[in-house]
Amino acid sequence: MKTLLLLIPLLLVTASAAADARRGKQLHDSHCMKCHDTGVYSRSNRFVRSPDALRAQVDRCGLNAGARWSDTDIQDVVDYLDQAFYHFGSGQAAP
Ligand code: HEC
Repeated sequence: MKTLLLLIPLLLVTASAAADARRGKQLHDSHCMKCHDTGVYSRSNRFVRSPDALRAQVDRCGLNAGARWSDTDIQDVVDYLDQAFYHFGSGQAAP
C-alpha cells in the first residue's frame, strides 16, 4: 500500500511531462517552422549539445519567431524537442 502511494505522484509527473511535450509540439509547429524545419534538430552537425544550450536556443529562436512565450511555454517546447530529437533527458528536471 505504501508503495502504491509513492507511485501515484510519479505516475502523475510522468503523465504531465508527456502532456507538456504534446503542448510543446503544438506551440512549436505553429511558430517555429518559418525559417527551418525539424531537420535542423537531427542533422549530424547540429550545434545544440546540452540541455542548457537547447533552452537558450529555444529562447533565442522564440524571440526571432516573434512569439511572446512564458517560461512554461519555453519549457514545454524544450521538453518536446528533447523527447523527440535531442534525448538529453532533461525533461521536467531542468530548472
Ligand atoms: C527567424 C527565423 C527562425 C525562426 C522563426 C526560428 N528559428 Fe530556430 N534557428 C534559426 C536559425 C538561422 C538557426 C541556425 C540554423 C543553422 O545554423 O543552419 C536555428 C537553429 C535552431 C536550433 C538549433 C539546431 C541545432 O543545430 O541543434 C533550435 C533548437 C531551434 N532553432 C529552435 C527553434 C524554435 C523552438 C523555434 C520557435 C520558437 C525556432 N527555432 C524558430 C532561425 C529561426
